[in-house]
Amino acid sequence: MSKIRVSELSRRIDAELAALASREQLRRLGAIDGVNLCSNDYLGLASDPRLREALASALADGVPVGSTGSRLLSGNAAIWEELESQIAQFMGSQAALYFNSGYSANVGLLSALIRPGDVVFSDAGNHASIIDGLRLSGARKVIFPHLDMDLLERELRKNFSGAAQKFIVSESIFSMDGDRAPLADLVALAERYAAELIIDEAHAIGVAGPQGRALVAASGLADQILITVHPCGKALAGVGCFVCCSEKLKQYLVNRARTFIFSTALPPYVAVQMRAAIRIVAAADRERNDLAALAAFLRKKLREAGFDIGRGDTQIVPIFLGDNERAVRFAALLDEAGFGARPIRPPSVPAGTSRLRISLNAKLSTDLLVRFTDALISIREQEQVPVHAVRP
Ligand SMILES: Cc1ncc(COP(=O)(O)O)c(C=O)c1O
Repeated sequence: MSKIRVSELSRRIDAELAALASREQLRRLGAIDGVNLCSNDYLGLASDPRLREALASALADGVPVGSTGSRLLSGNAAIWEELESQIAQFMGSQAALYFNSGYSANVGLLSALIRPGDVVFSDAGNHASIIDGLRLSGARKVIFPHLDMDLLERELRKNFSGAAQKFIVSESIFSMDGDRAPLADLVALAERYAAELIIDEAHAIGVAGPQGRALVAASGLADQILITVHPCGKALAGVGCFVCCSEKLKQYLVNRARTFIFSTALPPYVAVQMRAAIRIVAAADRERNDLAALAAFLRKKLREAGFDIGRGDTQIVPIFLGDNERAVRFAALLDEAGFGARPIRPPSVPAGTSRLRISLNAKLSTDLLVRFTDALISIREQEQVPVHAVRP
């Protein structure tokens, strides 16, 4: 009996893996060789000596290496509350709550706050953690085309009879497109149609806005946004995610967000690292300026060379190649040329929009970006790929 079940399962898995392989969608784990052009360590802090020192000295002083339980049981070291107070003060929010990852923050808060009977409007470019959180919420979902505010308004205007509450969820800088949400428009629409707004700042925190406090802070509209989400594994070079919200919402999430409640807290040394990271990031204007200049430089070079890089202006530069096979081939040839860039394919992005996602960091140089662009041009010639029209 068990043999039959095992072989059925095995056949199913084989079939699925074969189908992925036939569509050039089979992923394999591997290390990046050469220049890393796909890291989210935007400010280059992942091996910063100041962070190492903060950690080394905390460990030498005896900070535990395990948290021993979830925050509601034994895992709530004082350092977590100190970190959350520091974050709330830094961000100018009433309160902050630290989750173990951006994924668990989005899944936990969206599934706790949004209920069946609510309706939620979600940008088509939103991250998988938002999609999964919304699925778990059981609410009715309206997915609007990426950044299409007219369509969003048309949907909001519809009469969702019986909808208890409306929500709009968006990233601020989009992880796969490198473009920005029009926050002022989103806030205006949320006001007009009595919706609550939730913004994920994963790729903006540390990188954009005054002291790197991201785009909501830069917009001056924080008071009109219910929750902002700040994953810390990117420019903050750490792990976990802080959520900024009111004191009441924090209390609600502590009691209702299942990913917060039913998961062991991160080790307290992580809080030490993140306290140091926030201080460093607040003072990293030079790195932010360098990053912005590198992004503008690369975008100009790629546009001049006729690559389709979309409409963004940030440190995330998508190079649209269309089909999966071509994206995989370009990434492999770039690897041979000494550049580590990953092909991004469905389901991470819509079918037909496979791309290389170049993510820059402040430690790169313009010389290197010139060499990278030249390598890309040679690959395009070698592969006999026509020059793409640049999208307006
Ligand atoms: C927009 C966005 N939100 C959330 C996450 C998840 O964050 P984490 O990696 O901390 O789980 C990511 C990660 O790529 C992201 O891009």
